[in-house]
Amino acid sequence: MHTPRGPRDWPLCSPCISAVLACPRCGGCLASAALRCLARADTSSAAAEVSSLKGKSGTLNLVPDVRVVRDEACSAVFLVQIRRLLDDAYADDFAEEDWQHTAGGWRVIVLDGQSPVAHAAVVPRLLHVSERQFQTGYVEAVATLTSKQTQGLGALVMSHATSLVRAHFEMGALSTGRLDFYKRFGWEPWQGPSFVRDGAELIRTPDEDDGLMVLRFGPSADIDLTASIVCEQRSGDAW
Ligand SMILES: CC(C)(COP(=O)(O)OP(=O)(O)OC[C@H]1O[C@@H](n2cnc3c(N)ncnc32)[C@H](O)[C@@H]1OP(=O)(O)O)[C@@H](O)C(=O)NCCC(=O)NCCS
Repeated sequence: MHTPRGPRDWPLCSPCISAVLACPRCGGCLASAALRCLARADTSSAAAEVSSLKGKSGTLNLVPDVRVVRDEACSAVFLVQIRRLLDDAYADDFAEEDWQHTAGGWRVIVLDGQSPVAHAAVVPRLLHVSERQFQTGYVEAVATLTSKQTQGLGALVMSHATSLVRAHFEMGALSTGRLDFYKRFGWEPWQGPSFVRDGAELIRTPDEDDGLMVLRFGPSADIDLTASIVCEQRSGDAW
């Protein structure tokens, strides 16, 4: 049996220089190495590498198949599957309004065969920090099927979601109870007061302050984390 010698033996994933789809002779290291590549956004070449290895390893289902899709490219059946995944991960505490909040942008999805097993949505929102407004990539519904958790799939979708935010927006934001999970991707806890704008009225949202995180880069790189942050009102949770 072939013994993997380590990441230096494995093909490199350009441009992120992480080992990915490693060791075509050994399914074991193939699976673990694929999970090391957390910065990759180009899923088309990854898919090509996957299919080139398919016949050799016989363990394709161990290699995360990551897709980045726009909503309009998702069939109704596929959206139902994603909704089921979210209901499972959030233990049926995922409201219809939460689902609506995932629509209108991109979805990062890990497939196991035809079935989605991990998901993150990136949707456009307009946020204000102090007097400045930012086209923001707002991350929603980061979730992994309960039976597939703690295998790195959540990190995988979040890595791609972070790349999407950087590529298409001026700032990133999200609301979470798991700050540490997101810090590894460069997200920072917001330290100032949060508000929601409802017409002309600014309403303070103090319960949200501790869970808000932002991704600063480009035009938002210099924003003050202790300033006020404002989102527009929407049905369900504002943040
Ligand atoms: C949060 C959530 C998406 C994480 O998904 P996941 O696929 O389990 O994420 P990962 O496997 O990448 O990481 C989870 C933990 O497993 C660990 N882990 C990853 N691979 C591992 C492995 N092979 N062996 C052991 N631990 C591993 C990670 O280090 C991480 O630990 P940490 O949380 O202490 O940092 C998932 O728990 C979930 O769906 N929760 C319900 C919905 C939810 O709360 N979403 C977030 C709302 S903001």
